[in-house]
Amino acid sequence: MPEHNRGGLRAFARAGRAGMTAILLAGALSAAAIAQSLPAASGTAALGHVTVLSQQIGPRVAGTPEYGRAADYVADQLQRFGYQVDRQAFPFVGFEEMSAPALVVTAPVQTALHPVTLLYSGPTPARGVEADIVAAGIGRRDDFAGKQVEGHVALVKRGELRFSEKASNAAAVGAAAVIIYNSQPGPAQSGTLGAPTAIPTVMIPQQEGERLLQLMAASSVRVRLTVNTLVKPRTSENVIGIKRGTTKPDEILVVGGHLDSVPFAPGANDNASGVAAMLEVARLLADVPTARTVHFVAFGAEEVGLLGSDYYARNRAGTKIGMINLDMVGDGPVMLVANSAGSGGLLDAAERVAGRLGLRLERSRSGSSDHVTFERAGVPVVFIHTGDDGVYHTPMDLVGHIQPQLLAQAASLAAGLVLELAGSR
Ligand code: BES
Ligand code: ZN
Repeated sequence: MPEHNRGGLRAFARAGRAGMTAILLAGALSAAAIAQSLPAASGTAALGHVTVLSQQIGPRVAGTPEYGRAADYVADQLQRFGYQVDRQAFPFVGFEEMSAPALVVTAPVQTALHPVTLLYSGPTPARGVEADIVAAGIGRRDDFAGKQVEGHVALVKRGELRFSEKASNAAAVGAAAVIIYNSQPGPAQSGTLGAPTAIPTVMIPQQEGERLLQLMAASSVRVRLTVNTLVKPRTSENVIGIKRGTTKPDEILVVGGHLDSVPFAPGANDNASGVAAMLEVARLLADVPTARTVHFVAFGAEEVGLLGSDYYARNRAGTKIGMINLDMVGDGPVMLVANSAGSGGLLDAAERVAGRLGLRLERSRSGSSDHVTFERAGVPVVFIHTGDDGVYHTPMDLVGHIQPQLLAQAASLAAGLVLELAGSR
């Protein structure tokens, strides 16, 4: 902390809650001045939350008991900081994998591949689907034209079309299953089909897809795919910590991140990191009054289609004046601030705050996460993240690759933004 702020911090510490309210209502300190005098965010505290969520609890798939344990943990933390906590339950169509998928080349050579099931994929029969592969480009309708696909397994490349379009184009020509191979190196990532889809659909790594294409150049290639999934009605919940505004309580600023993970992924960066940063912001601001109400929200069911944030945005009363989304803030080369346009929204505000904190930021348009549901509802947003870490949505998304100083930076940035946007009076 710069030397000239030390006095401010001491004054802040002495003022206590009641004193602080008086100062703020009198307008003696600007949001910027309060932000400067906030204690530094603790990377260690935030890393502790990531460890509990990703390592002690582990994968937190929507609708599972592990998600419930994670929600209990977040509610408990917010209560300890002194916030009123609302648990907002909502119904959704649940998707579960009863066992990991298996994909084996059975001819011309026996080889096991490494598939990841796409969310909302239908199951295969218990004994699996065994059939020849037909390659069909990226899975456009045209890519299937003139090919014998009926009863076969379609092999298509990731990219350009939605997963659901590739699957429905394959299903329309009678494919028994779809294999999508990744368009970038590294492990296959999970993704969502958006809605329950009868045809079993998995992703494999790029190099395995390219190997299959090579084999197919010489002879027909036969595979056996087993997918064991279950689709059924479920309940999940958002956990909301409430700081009631002093003078404009009906105007709400949302600081949130999703708490759920994809199956088999511990979700340390995606997104225990964002929830941990959100909890740090809540801790830092516990005794700082704001004019507007602030909701600290752990969203449920993001990974199955942004469902928790959608439910919150539609159903929670009050005027939402802004949304700060923290999703994947624990690993990466640079802090990014984004929205769909890559400009406007709350990006200018984020840059101002970062400038004061001496943080380097870059703008981006990337990322589909909970801020999108708020954008759709016309709420200005900023999505804070540190980019693609190369392991999210895989079992390798472990706490060991999380950098505590990044968690602290994200929390400091978000806390500064809260003060600026929720107002000191
Ligand atoms: N955390 C990711 C989004 C993300 C990816 C942020 C890379 C930063 C870097 C998020 O949880 C996610 O997986 N979103 C889905 C879409 C969503 C609608 C299920 C995605 O991007 O595929
Ligand atoms: Zn995420």
